[in-house]
Amino acid sequence: MTTAIVGVGNIGGAVARHLVAGGENVVLAGKSTPRAKELADELGPLAQAASAQDAIAQADTVVLAIWLDAMRELIPQVAPLLAGKVVIDPSNPIAFDAQGQVVRSLPDGQSAGSVAAALLPADAHYVKAFGTLAAEALAANANRTPQPAALFYATDDERAAATAERLIRAAGFDPVKAGGLADAGRIEAPGGDLHQFGFNGEVVTADQARAAIDAHQ
Ligand SMILES: NC(=O)c1ccc[n+]([C@@H]2O[C@H](COP(=O)([O-])OP(=O)(O)OC[C@H]3O[C@@H](n4cnc5c(N)ncnc54)[C@H](OP(=O)(O)O)[C@@H]3O)[C@@H](O)[C@H]2O)c1
Repeated sequence: MTTAIVGVGNIGGAVARHLVAGGENVVLAGKSTPRAKELADELGPLAQAASAQDAIAQADTVVLAIWLDAMRELIPQVAPLLAGKVVIDPSNPIAFDAQGQVVRSLPDGQSAGSVAAALLPADAHYVKAFGTLAAEALAANANRTPQPAALFYATDDERAAATAERLIRAAGFDPVKAGGLADAGRIEAPGGDLHQFGFNGEVVTADQARAAIDAHQ
């Protein structure tokens, strides 16, 4: 199984590193920098670099580790290649104002997941995952002991759920399903009660994660 990681910045770079450490094959794609090739060289034989088109074409699963605005531009260009594939979306509805402060980029109640999922071909298998921790926490908490850290995911799709569970485990975390696509906003920031920031920055265990889901239902 091969996972394409499109965007190897803070999130994509950490996901790539963790998946390779877990024995997964990855194909890395950037846009305007040589970072994908540099990271693939660093990660060794399980990692390669390619254009976004070539990476998606040769993968079973695609992680779109890019900003929501970049998805609006990229997805229409590669939509036929995404048909039938599992698409993992870590995006948050975040933008920066003129002062560089983080602001919400979508109206309250609208999730980035709902926007990303609507851009995909109807037969893509969508799941929101790998975005529930800040990038530094994602990078630092793989294979945590004695209690693994949890990563939430949200999807309506069984195949996407199975893939998210497998890759979250391979990356060194415990997968916890937050719900369906309608619950994606709960695992996004700002505002999601199940995002790391909803736990005041704490990186929770699977038991804590499940208790938090139940507490809000
Ligand atoms: N940072 C966080 O703490 C955090 C936490 C949770 C979720 N997220 C979400 O994760 C996503 C990525 O965030 P990030 O912090 O990792 O962003 P980032 O560090 O700015 O990296 C984004 C990357 O996207 C690449 N890119 C843009 N358009 C592309 C295209 N058409 N094809 C291939 N690559 C493309 C850029 O590549 P080049 O540099 O080569 O141009 C860049 O390296 C966002 O949706 C964000 O909301 C971020």
